[in-house]
Amino acid sequence: MDQYGVFGNPIAHSKSPDIHHFFAKSTLQSLTYSKFLGDVDTFELQVKEFFREGGKGLNVTVPFKERAFNLCDVVSPRAKQAGAVNTLLVGKNGQIFGDNTDGVGMVRDICENHGQSLTGKRVLVLGAGGAVRGVLEPLRNESPKEIVIANRTLSKAQVLAEHFSQEAIPVIASEFDQVTGEFDVIINGTSASLSGDLPPLPESVIHSDTWCYDMMYAKEPTVFLKWAYELGAKGSDGLGMLVEQAAEAFFLWRMKRPDTGSLINKMRADLELRHC
Ligand code: ATR
Repeated sequence: MDQYGVFGNPIAHSKSPDIHHFFAKSTLQSLTYSKFLGDVDTFELQVKEFFREGGKGLNVTVPFKERAFNLCDVVSPRAKQAGAVNTLLVGKNGQIFGDNTDGVGMVRDICENHGQSLTGKRVLVLGAGGAVRGVLEPLRNESPKEIVIANRTLSKAQVLAEHFSQEAIPVIASEFDQVTGEFDVIINGTSASLSGDLPPLPESVIHSDTWCYDMMYAKEPTVFLKWAYELGAKGSDGLGMLVEQAAEAFFLWRMKRPDTGSLINKMRADLELRHC
């Protein structure tokens, strides 16, 4: 059976094996998918060993995405823009190919699953770490009117703004409390939700038609989503992004596009059951 897996540290919590086994079943593919605890000292050797033993493909998660990028022989243009890789596959010649499916997964969740167009919209992105860098190129491909990146550390937002700004689609850096004007879409890519912190944004960024997205998901709405809902906005957490980035990786490996809606619904129901 073809072998796949995910490397991360920690990894025990990963839902990727369940997701890929669900996809394999629904597309009649015969494969196994395992969790591997990445070793911070020997991650590159672990990956090469996996492929040497006949493994077909890997996902890579925190904290190894940049290191995975560096170990590849070839990377996709979108991985190059992200400077990080979350999907690896091996070619017939033994070369390791790296791609990044996070951004396309997020955009597909926002645009297709939630029916939100980004074209011509004013988009505010919170955060300037690896997660945000990974989604900016696919976000820009949707032709928003403008992207504002707000971050606690302004200099990191400035680096991204300079890298991704184009004449047709300006990308502007800001501090949280300096953001001005109303936005059509706000995407939280900070890890502040993990610590229950809310980026100190002015309430004026939200109007009743603003649509808010948190790249994280949890049993309950994140503090960012609670704040947005209280101000009358609508939105979603990033559960669908998790499933869509996996579906894109599955497609790269198996050339089959699994149905994602039924899995998202099932995972949402499981989350809610556990919450009861
Ligand atoms: P990731 O891979 O999840 O993006 P990261 O690269 O460490 O992780 O980036 C974390 C992001 O969340 C950064 O934008 C960080 O802001 P700084 O660049 O100022 O560090 C942001 N972040 C983390 N905790 C935060 C908090 N409590 N409030 C606001 N922003 C926070």
